[in-house]
Amino acid sequence: MKALLFTCILVPWLTAALARRFDQNSQLIPGSLPGRELNGYFSDNLKSKRARRALPPADEPDESPIPDGAAAIDLPTCLLCVCLSGSVYCEEVSPDMTTVPTLPKETAYLYARFNKIKKLAAKDFGDIVTLKRIDLTGNMISEIEDGTFSKLTMLEELSLAENRLVKLPMLPAKLTSFNANHNLLKTKGVKANAFKKLTKLVNLFLANNQLEAVPHIPESVRILHLQNNNITDVNKDTFCKSNSTYYLRLSLNEVRLDGNPAVLSKYPDSFTCMKVLPSGRYR
Ligand SMILES: *[C@@H]1O[C@H](CO)[C@@H](O)[C@H](O)[C@H]1NC(C)=O
Ligand SMILES: *[C@@H]1O[C@H](CO)[C@@H](O)[C@H](O)[C@H]1NC(C)=O
Repeated sequence: MKALLFTCILVPWLTAALARRFDQNSQLIPGSLPGRELNGYFSDNLKSKRARRALPPADEPDESPIPDGAAAIDLPTCLLCVCLSGSVYCEEVSPDMTTVPTLPKETAYLYARFNKIKKLAAKDFGDIVTLKRIDLTGNMISEIEDGTFSKLTMLEELSLAENRLVKLPMLPAKLTSFNANHNLLKTKGVKANAFKKLTKLVNLFLANNQLEAVPHIPESVRILHLQNNNITDVNKDTFCKSNSTYYLRLSLNEVRLDGNPAVLSKYPDSFTCMKVLPSGRYR
């Protein structure tokens, strides 16, 4: 009975709400898909969901992302944002979104770019251990509570680019990509071992900050962006090991140090373990 009510009343209403939202967006975002196409896409998606709900096959469990019992909790976020099988898209939400919305259980991908989120609290992602990717690019985040990310054991990609961070939070061990470009990070806000335990880290983006030194870079890193910081020197232990001439750092194949005060030609022995020279000032 409850499911029938949901299907007959809530779903058409949800479809209409989404349609309205995409009509608005298509006018607001230059170059976005025409409203009708998106309407078609989302209403088709909902229609097929409705069809599945109307005739639940006896031998197949209903895998729709909004279980009846949870509908009351999940609907507000999924009306404000767009929820599609494990992904939540909350981009440029209006009215202004200043905190992380309550996420549906089992969210794997969260895109909350270009909002006005100021602070991340430990409870924001508390029990959503299914998260694999979080993109918070272009918010106003200046504070992140301890433990906000540390329990997210499946998290692989995290972007905090274009925010107002002066220090970094504890990062979870499985990260492969971390982006904090365009923040206000100084070396004292980046703990010496901030990246040390991230043994799967491949991309590390820390460009356009105010770092004074190169942080400890895990062996696994392939792409390192540190351009446009305030790095004044590099030494033999920054990338290589001064006490071992046999040491090779083979993974690292793109290092950007341009836009820093350091003159790299002053440190001829600092890059001997690497396959490529960093980009940057040599004169
Ligand atoms: C860069 O570092 C120097 C000290 O090495 C400091 O005087 C200067 O204010 C720093 N610049 C910025 C933009 O942080
Ligand atoms: C080389 O230096 C590292 C620290 O930079 C140290 O852990 C290691 O034990 C040193 N090895 C030798 C042979 O001195």
